[in-house]
Amino acid sequence: MNFSINPSANPLPADKRQEILSNPGFGTNFTDHMAMVKYTAGTGWHDAHITARAPITIDPATAVLHYAQEIFEGMKAYKLADGTMALFRPDANAARFNRSARRLAMPELPEEIFLESIRKLVDIDRDWFPDVEGGSIYLRPFMFASEAFLGVRPSNEYLYMVIASPAGGYFKSGAPAIKIWVSQHYSRAAPGGTGAAKCGGNYAASLIAQQEASAHGCDQVVFLDAAEHKWVEELGGMNLFFLLEGGHMITPPTSGTILEGITRKSIIQLARDQGLIVEEKPYSISEWRDDAQSGKLVECFACGTAAVVTPVGTVASEEGEFTIGAGGPGQITQQLRRQLVNIQRGLAEDRYGWVQRID
Ligand code: PLP
Ligand code: COI
Repeated sequence: MNFSINPSANPLPADKRQEILSNPGFGTNFTDHMAMVKYTAGTGWHDAHITARAPITIDPATAVLHYAQEIFEGMKAYKLADGTMALFRPDANAARFNRSARRLAMPELPEEIFLESIRKLVDIDRDWFPDVEGGSIYLRPFMFASEAFLGVRPSNEYLYMVIASPAGGYFKSGAPAIKIWVSQHYSRAAPGGTGAAKCGGNYAASLIAQQEASAHGCDQVVFLDAAEHKWVEELGGMNLFFLLEGGHMITPPTSGTILEGITRKSIIQLARDQGLIVEEKPYSISEWRDDAQSGKLVECFACGTAAVVTPVGTVASEEGEFTIGAGGPGQITQQLRRQLVNIQRGLAEDRYGWVQRID
């Protein structure tokens, strides 16, 4: 499928863009263009184009506004040491997008259309790359039910779009380690539900718990399993790893209720390849507390596209707080983060074929 390209007639002036790029933050500023492809039942995918970023008009009866049939992805474009723009494992995002689509009864998007939309958008907006520590262009592909219809059934029309946003660090506090809040009353996902899909509804359901976390001075919320409120699952927008003494790592299994993070998968590979033992197995909130208190748990970190690898220093709940290690970034956490970031930015050899250049 060929994307038609209509460059913006009014891109942001260079001086204003530079001002944004010197302190990009996360998710508040956007590049000059967007990608869009339409889907109509019977016709399939059509009308692929890159155009000036602008508001879209939708009918008040548009299905997504009522029944939340929507999915998205989160990925980043980096500038390599030699100045080339590149993507990290974009095929994994394309595959996950289609797993989410299937779960939400939406049409799958051919992987090549997904990848081309990303490449074309990054190419036209490459001047939006922020040359700051940890800078990237954050990409947000998404798809929603665009048919105006109030009956409850899968939509016959969809809009797939990609927007892009210059990004720095995700956490505003910039603290060396985050503090997280254990949600004991709210669940994010249940067996048979949509936990493994990247759909907007999961995030809507997580907001009240995130609000509770913020009210307790925490950066993120951590969810437990819905059935027993015992097993640690993941944060509102990141996966979790626990590092025990002796180079032994544990991360909760992807058994349907947590998102299969691409950062998670990459970290597992990097860790195993340097001789760490990584087990994907359930870890309970009481083990977490006891192991932190006994010193058996030496480090803990959260990971995801937006958060990269972020140390967890303190865990708080209605029952009190506990600290992991010295409460700051652990040594293995920092080392894994550096290894990952160096591959993403072309500063270390990409032995795994994870980096795709945009020429
Ligand atoms: N878990 C949730 C709920 C997320 O929103 C994210 C972010 O995308 C992740 C985990 C980490 O996934 P990834 O590493 O693919 O960004
Ligand atoms: C991402 O990491 O891409 C996400 O979608 C998570 C969100 C916290 C921004």
